[in-house]
This record gives sequence, C-alpha cells and structure tokens, in this order.
Amino acid sequence: MISGDLAERGEVLVYRQLKARLADFPIETHLMLGNHDDRGHFLSVFPEGPRDEAGFVQSAILRDGALFLLLDTLKGPPSSAGLYCTQRKAWLKGELARARGRPVYLFMHHPPFSIAHDLMDLILLDDAEDFLSLLGGHGVRHVFFGHAHRPISGQFRGMSFSAPPSLVHQLPLVSGSVATIYSDEPAMYAVVHADPDKVLVHMDAYLNRSPAQMDPDAERGTWF
Ligand SMILES: [Fe+2]
Repeated sequence: MISGDLAERGEVLVYRQLKARLADFPIETHLMLGNHDDRGHFLSVFPEGPRDEAGFVQSAILRDGALFLLLDTLKGPPSSAGLYCTQRKAWLKGELARARGRPVYLFMHHPPFSIAHDLMDLILLDDAEDFLSLLGGHGVRHVFFGHAHRPISGQFRGMSFSAPPSLVHQLPLVSGSVATIYSDEPAMYAVVHADPDKVLVHMDAYLNRSPAQMDPDAERGTWF
C-alpha cells in the first residue's frame, strides 16, 4: 500500500515515472491519493486504477478472511487537509456493511484524529467525528495512515493505528529543533503482519542500515 502523496504537485509526468518504476516492482502494489495528488491527473495515467462508482480512488480488497479498505481522502488545493464527503461516505457505508463480521483494516492518507503535532494537526481529516461515526460496530482492527511524516503508533477509541515516516523528508517531533520546517531523519517503510490474533507492524529504516559499531564480544555475548 502506498498511502498517498505519490507526486509533489500531482504532476502527470511524475505519475508516469511512478508507473514505469512499478512496472517491474516485485510486490503487488495498491496506490492511494494524498493532499499532494491530483485525482484527474492520476487517473489519466492509471485509467485502470481503483475507482468507486463516483470516481473516487477507493477500493476494497477481500483476502484471507479480512477486508482491506483503501480510502480517498483528497480534498484538493489550496487545502492540504483531508475530506471525506457524502459520496465517499456512502461507499464506505456499503463496504462496511458487506464486511459481515470480518476484521476490517482501513488505509487512508489523512489521520482522522489529532496526532499531537502542532503543524500536522492543522491539516487532518475535516469533520473527523463525522467520519468516525461511520466506523462504530464494524470491527475496524487497525487504521493505517500516511501524511504525518513521522513514525506513529497507538490506539484510538479501541482501534490500533500506525503510520510510517515519509520516504523523503520528515517533520521533527519538536518544531524549531532544526533550522528548517522539515528534517532529514531515516526513511522507513512498514511490513505488516495482519493475523487473526495479532497486527504486527515492523518499520524498516532500510536506507540507514549498516554494520553495528560494537565490540564483537559484546555482540556475541550470551546476555540472553
Ligand atoms: Fe500528505
């Protein structure tokens, strides 16, 4: 799942480049939209891309007894916040009704609650309570979101959630701790084990991995 902000300014050229890069990518990939995306430009390059009946980039994947719902929270410029409008809600209501007790995993770009970050909290999902009211009683096991440019996990009203950092720049936890708004911190992707009794999220700082600078005796000690 690539959780949105596929391009910086929704450029057609970037979507073409992404499509070319994914052509021989060995892992099944599902694309989602974020506030930096342009739905029309995206669909012009990915005409076969996931779309609900109203034309939003939303899809449902039923696999291994679980329902994975990929939401389109793109509001559009000039706002960087997210929006989940009446049409999108209608789709989500229908999909949740079809879950019939199966565990549901939600994927969305914008977090639907405060993440206690002074900048990001300005551009969350609009009308989040309205959105959250749709979820009650539907067995949502985990909410995956992007947008935060920080590794975050926790629990919100009984739903666990997680977000990986960005693959490019990050947002420092403490604003002002660097001279720029964004910071260079390790990029990570997440590997998720969604099992019947457990949701496990590994974050992998794959660009910053190198041999440990430690004494071999310490490394191989029988501390366990
Ligand atoms: Fe974003």
